[in-house]
Amino acid sequence: MAEYGMILTEVQGRVAIIRLNRPKALNALCDQLMDELGQALRGYDADPAIAAIVITGNEKAFAAGADIKEMQARRYPAVYLDDFIGKRWEAVTFVQKPVIAAVAGYALGGGCELAMMCDIILAGDNAKFGQPEINLGVIPGAGGTQRLTRAIGKSKAMEMILTARMMDAAEAERANLVARVVPAAEVVAEAVKLGEKIAELSAPAVAVAKEAVNRAYETTLAEGVKFERRVFQALFATEDQKEGMAAFAEKRKAQFRNR
Ligand code: CAA
Repeated sequence: MAEYGMILTEVQGRVAIIRLNRPKALNALCDQLMDELGQALRGYDADPAIAAIVITGNEKAFAAGADIKEMQARRYPAVYLDDFIGKRWEAVTFVQKPVIAAVAGYALGGGCELAMMCDIILAGDNAKFGQPEINLGVIPGAGGTQRLTRAIGKSKAMEMILTARMMDAAEAERANLVARVVPAAEVVAEAVKLGEKIAELSAPAVAVAKEAVNRAYETTLAEGVKFERRVFQALFATEDQKEGMAAFAEKRKAQFRNR
């Protein structure tokens, strides 16, 4: 496994855990950290021993955003030519396996955007979500205006993005930003449990399900439903479909081969 300076990696069973690890800077997402995160994600995505990936921070901060001190002197057109921050940040959106954000503490700016790039967000009860970029004279730049709006609706997203108001964990759950709220100290263990549950299922079915849900964000209802039907049909070519349905009929637990 590669040596990293700003993340910690660990594998529990078939679940990989990537811990953002710049605690003194509240896990501010600098270039090096994002490069390391991308490298770790690509490695685990390619590793057949891994079924799901958890991204987390520490109890005080998932991540307090892009590194303000690193980016403050950047200028146009360099940011444009470098495609700041697209190239570096989108690694998580190319992962085929489920990625779970286990969020305790602050998930602000790019931290909130990183969590929203993941497939499922589990929140610790001390989590705080926000897009405070407006206070810096800019706007969210890693998908916040788009993904937050799709997740919680226009009015709430506008309020948060235009005023920098933070949302606590309970409100984030009510607003459907997060799947569930758990005690902060247990958020990683809960995310790993979720990953382990997914690891028992048919990997092709899981990957196809993820792709189909994500298609809902990219296309019309008619096209999305058609895509879903085609990949649903394609799964009948897998031995896992035969096993899953036979196990149901025989009242036993399915033993999927493609895990
Ligand atoms: N970038 C760089 N450093 C950061 C940082 C960030 N986003 N967030 C926190 N830090 C640093 C602080 O500068 C401080 O460092 P020093 O000890 O060297 O002074 C250290 O982390 C601890 O932070 P605070 O002393 O501020 O801690 P606090 O508990 O008083 O406040 C906080 C916590 C409310 C989260 C506050 O740190 C804060 O407001 N952070 C910035 C949040 C923000 O604006 N995020 C958006 C960034 S822009 C962005 O993300 C663009 C995008 O869309 C991609």
